[in-house]
Amino acid sequence: MFEEAQYFAPVATKDDGSVVVELATSHPGFADAVYRQRRNAIAALALGHTPGDPIPMAEYTDEEHHVWALVTKELAVKHQKYAVREFLDAAKRLGLPEDRIPQLQEVGDLLEPLTGFRYLPAAGLVPLREFYGVLADGLFHSTQYIRHHSVPFYTPEPDVIHEVIGHANTLASPRFAALYRAAGRAARRMETDEALEFVSKVFWFTMEFGVMREDGELRAYGAGILSSYGEIEEFRGMDIRPLDLAAMGTTHYDITKYQEVLFEAASFDHLEDTVGTFWDTCDDDTIARLLATSSA
Ligand SMILES: [Fe+2]
Repeated sequence: MFEEAQYFAPVATKDDGSVVVELATSHPGFADAVYRQRRNAIAALALGHTPGDPIPMAEYTDEEHHVWALVTKELAVKHQKYAVREFLDAAKRLGLPEDRIPQLQEVGDLLEPLTGFRYLPAAGLVPLREFYGVLADGLFHSTQYIRHHSVPFYTPEPDVIHEVIGHANTLASPRFAALYRAAGRAARRMETDEALEFVSKVFWFTMEFGVMREDGELRAYGAGILSSYGEIEEFRGMDIRPLDLAAMGTTHYDITKYQEVLFEAASFDHLEDTVGTFWDTCDDDTIARLLATSSA
């Protein structure tokens, strides 16, 4: 099974129509009935949303806005030290609010004039074909809930901090946005699930956990690293390997731990030439050949 499925809390619609997010017992919000009720309500908003309509407003508490403000402030300092220039410039242009959680509608309103991207609300896991496919149309599926306020620097699932601070700041860059769209077009071309998974793993090791050499220093551009208070301090010490499509498409990863193997682009041009060109040109046969090489 593709491991991203373990990443999200399952969302169930009960016989009476109510929506329930099934948090694991280890989730920091498991015992907080008020938080769980809000999670259910936010998941129901996404399930009831029709693409093209305005995104329904999620209710957040003052404590939750405070989590956003705290994490935004701390990450901004780390971004100066560890993020690639393209991300820093894009974040400045996007101008996300620092003191409160923005609504996804607002994120799309800020993003669209820059790169044409808009957000779509997701209750939890979105099927791979759907999640990646709509990137080609400039649409990004995003969760809307925020992590539990008891542990502001930790989340077991991708929350609005990851989706917006990590991805929207990246999607505000025309160069990164073009790569996301290319990944979406590639995903749409794939006929087999195996090839689709390969495309998504290349995305994982680049747009989620990619690192890049810039002015001699290793910096991050992956949204997973750039939205993680802990991981951003650790990535330089990981097992850093050169960009390699066959390796990225087949390397096992464990989403519950820091990524131990990371792939380094020598420059932005190198990322575009290697990964962008791959997504622009790959088909099921290309990927079957890469899979054969890596298992040879
Ligand atoms: Fe992500």
